[in-house]
Amino acid sequence: DEIITLDPGYKNTGSCKSEITYLDGEKGVLMYRGYSIEQLAEKSSFVEVMYLLLKGELPTATELQKFKDDINEYNFVSEDIAKILAAFPSSAHPMGVLSSLTSALTAFNPKAVNAKSEEEMYRAAVTLIGKFAVLASWTLRKVKGLPLNYSDSKLDYVENFYQLMFKNPNKDLQMDPIVIDALDKLLILHADHEQNCSTSTVRLVGSAHTGLFASISAGVSALWGPLHGGANQEVVEMLEKIKEDGGDVQKWVDKAKDKNDDFRLMGFGHRVYKNFDPRARIIKKAADQILEKLGIQDEALEIAKKLELAALEDEYFVSRKLYPNVDFYSGIIYKALGIPTEMFTVMFAVGRLPGWIAQWIEMRQNNEPIGRPRQIYTGAPKRDYIDIENR
Ligand code: CMC
Repeated sequence: DEIITLDPGYKNTGSCKSEITYLDGEKGVLMYRGYSIEQLAEKSSFVEVMYLLLKGELPTATELQKFKDDINEYNFVSEDIAKILAAFPSSAHPMGVLSSLTSALTAFNPKAVNAKSEEEMYRAAVTLIGKFAVLASWTLRKVKGLPLNYSDSKLDYVENFYQLMFKNPNKDLQMDPIVIDALDKLLILHADHEQNCSTSTVRLVGSAHTGLFASISAGVSALWGPLHGGANQEVVEMLEKIKEDGGDVQKWVDKAKDKNDDFRLMGFGHRVYKNFDPRARIIKKAADQILEKLGIQDEALEIAKKLELAALEDEYFVSRKLYPNVDFYSGIIYKALGIPTEMFTVMFAVGRLPGWIAQWIEMRQNNEPIGRPRQIYTGAPKRDYIDIENR
């Protein structure tokens, strides 16, 4: 008989070998291609990190310029996609719209769908990177009922994404370098995280030799969930509720501990980090600095800090090694940058896109077999069919 090892949630299953991201959950270490997340967040830029993830090395100035030019070649979306967008109700969640439109892109980019050679995969990658910022911004324009914007190739990727989201007719857009820098840093921190739920989804879908865009669309859907990327929206909504409820953080810590209540402290806990999430540490510091620089006082930040302290002093959280994760403080920064709550997970998706693409390409280049886990059957034993009149 075959022996099947059961591992629900793949807590102890390695699904692939990868050269992209290194993560040590005990020590709180995260590195992209060998470079620490701390150094990248401080010194690099999101475009450079995208290049690093895709190509494995930091670019020279010439390589970086070519990469930017290549992305800009594709930074527009067919008007027919705008028509699909128009058919959504404005109440649609931006993540659902983003996933659908990413999937719709397959119909308009047949070459990218069949990418096989290294050059074709690179083309598919820059095509998607160029178009994804447009799609992501359009989901915001849709919910807000605002006219759609088009890319400005003179701008850097992050600046362009910003103007795509916020430029309004008959009004000059002021781009505060503090805001752009903060956005850039957040995108870097989200750019890859080895075999998390959405990345595993992208690799699994792609392992059937499904094209890049359709695989990424599945990744967007996986990221949407509240236990994964959707947590950043849930955190800010939770902090607002705590505020309205009088700010008693201990009450909410107790609620999260209560096994008869399915409430969890959002932005807390991680499958792999059992000491601290290095991204959360960087973001917490950044949140303080950015709010101060922008002259914003946000009660939510104070509540978040109190909540963190209360949880970290509590035996329940200590014994389970539950610490704030990347999503705990990121929403507070997004809010300060003027990004609406329902867009938070879309911001995460824009950040994670290069990671998903790099992982998809690696999976195809390694010629990985189709992903196909096994199961242990626990259903009915063999029985005979009963005609409907006899049931
Ligand atoms: N609040 C209260 N209890 C928790 C929490 C939490 N946030 N997280 C884990 N636990 C408890 C859980 O109930 C379990 O307790 P027990 O041993 O008594 O049954 C124990 O801690 C272990 O949890 P688990 O669910 O088995 O751990 P996991 O590795 O399957 O789940 C997680 C990891 C991130 C899904 C989970 O910690 C969680 O739901 N956190 C809240 C949602 C969140 O912040 N997600 C963002 C994750 S990081 C960024 C990203 O992936 O997007």
